[in-house]
Amino acid sequence: MNDIINLKNLKYSYKKNSPVLDIENLNVKEGEKLFLYGPSGCGKTTFLSILSGILPAYDGSLKIFNTEFIGLKPSLRDQLRGSEMGYIFQLFNLIPYLNVLDNILLPCKISPLRRKNLSLQELKEKCVELANNLKIGKILNKKVTEISIGQQQRVAAARALIGFPKLIIADEPTSSLDADNREQFLKNLFDQCESQNTTLIFVSHDKDLKKFFSNHIYLPEINRVKS
Ligand SMILES: Nc1ncnc2c1ncn2[C@@H]1O[C@H](COP(=O)(O)OP(=O)(O)OP(=O)(O)O)[C@@H](O)[C@H]1O
Ligand SMILES: [Mg+2]
Repeated sequence: MNDIINLKNLKYSYKKNSPVLDIENLNVKEGEKLFLYGPSGCGKTTFLSILSGILPAYDGSLKIFNTEFIGLKPSLRDQLRGSEMGYIFQLFNLIPYLNVLDNILLPCKISPLRRKNLSLQELKEKCVELANNLKIGKILNKKVTEISIGQQQRVAAARALIGFPKLIIADEPTSSLDADNREQFLKNLFDQCESQNTTLIFVSHDKDLKKFFSNHIYLPEINRVKS
């Protein structure tokens, strides 16, 4: 299996002389499901923002899909994220004036590469299939401001999965779900990732979820900056 992420001596700080992350080594293989956990404020969201190229890291080496992200132009990082990554944000970041269907389709409308040569009709069919699997098929025409938080979380997951991204980055995607829905959500997410051979990096502070993953990393253990 190829490495999809290859990281060496990555350092990050928001402010000078106040480091947040300093990680010596991390490799993630294609198709892997990695659970990254740690307490609030330990740097999980910061780390995900760097992996997705939202934040630029300046030191060390960070290869994603064999492309060196350190020093890469922001527009190229954005392009790679748009075409090959699905990001489930901690606060969902759904677009309030679009309905559920258009929120899910958004990555494919923004990035032509993300469409993988599918027509709009084929994309809509894929969208309905994803929504049915995530049990939001009946609310596709609703406004996202008029659905529950748990439903919003699943819309965010469907939006991340559309267009066969190579990598899904999920930041606390189950924090608003009860235990039964949480396990169902995980099962659906895993099924979707396996059927698309998508790599998953899943962040949570909830250690109960660790048992569902084959690989896990406690961020404070690999981070040389102690918070
Ligand atoms: N935009 C920012 N500017 C400056 N410092 C920040 C910024 N965002 C986060 N930090 C700091 O970086 C550290 C890590 O924050 P981060 O959001 O990555 O933690 P987290 O592990 O995701 O926490 P949580 O579980 O609460 O979401 C914290 O000390 C935080 O105060
Ligand atoms: Mg966070």
